[in-house]
Amino acid sequence: MPDSSPPDDLPEHVRANREAWDRKAADYAEPGRRSWAAKDPTWGIWDIPESEVHLLPEDLDGRDVIELGCGTAYVSSWLARRGARVVGIDNSPKQLETARRYQAEFGLAFPVLLGNAESLPFPDASFDLAISEYGACLSAAPYAWVPEASRVLRPGGRLIFLTNGVVLQLAVEERVADDPAKDRLLRPLFGMHRTVWPDDTAIEFHLPHGEWIRLLRESGFEIERLAELQAPADAVDSQAHSYVGADWARKWPSEEVWIARKRG
Ligand SMILES: C[S@@+](CC[C@H](N)C(=O)[O-])C[C@H]1O[C@@H](n2cnc3c(N)ncnc32)[C@H](O)[C@@H]1O
Repeated sequence: MPDSSPPDDLPEHVRANREAWDRKAADYAEPGRRSWAAKDPTWGIWDIPESEVHLLPEDLDGRDVIELGCGTAYVSSWLARRGARVVGIDNSPKQLETARRYQAEFGLAFPVLLGNAESLPFPDASFDLAISEYGACLSAAPYAWVPEASRVLRPGGRLIFLTNGVVLQLAVEERVADDPAKDRLLRPLFGMHRTVWPDDTAIEFHLPHGEWIRLLRESGFEIERLAELQAPADAVDSQAHSYVGADWARKWPSEEVWIARKRG
């Protein structure tokens, strides 16, 4: 089901992010391939194994799942291998080219669609799980994509998303390469929302915890868990994520995962 919106009709941040992610896609191809090849899921910057954090529902067999901002679609591949009926949606044609290449290489087919997670081409109550790992949950407008995720979930369905930790957002000034998070507050919490970093044209969205809680509840969710991911004792600094060091991330959560269940 192709996205019929001409780029000019997309919201400004969605258009900017399409251009940004089409430009970045080549850099994400090889890490994406490694994650496709991984036997067991690992999460985030510090590759924390699913067997330690238990973010995924136990029983995915036959469940209808949508990945919001699937990128190279390795998260979708993990879920498809666990028996889920997965659909990935992403705003970047180039990222989807990579996803389709890996589907052919790894012999695992599921639909991946071009589209905006703020306006999904699916009827109400189509899915049991909506998941996003640094996808729409980071780059789509929260007050648009969260209600939309709720709309397409069935009552009792889950929303799981992994994004930058709120404390990390406060501890980085400009998040340029080689200027990692500090041990003090550099940015305000109040007013935290749309963010553009100086060395990137992609537009991100971050919310204070209180706002996430209000938005999720007003969108029909009960919050089940907020998992704050801690870098393991043996973690080393990641070149690809030079905005946060392993030592920092052993003390404060660089990443957080929200798990919410749709009421009903
Ligand atoms: C860091 S990637 C994360 C995806 C995946 N976990 C990966 O690493 O390949 C972010 C993805 O979100 C997608 N994205 C950004 N805004 C979106 C939106 N409004 N709707 C759908 N996808 C979006 C981008 O195109 C990009 O592929």
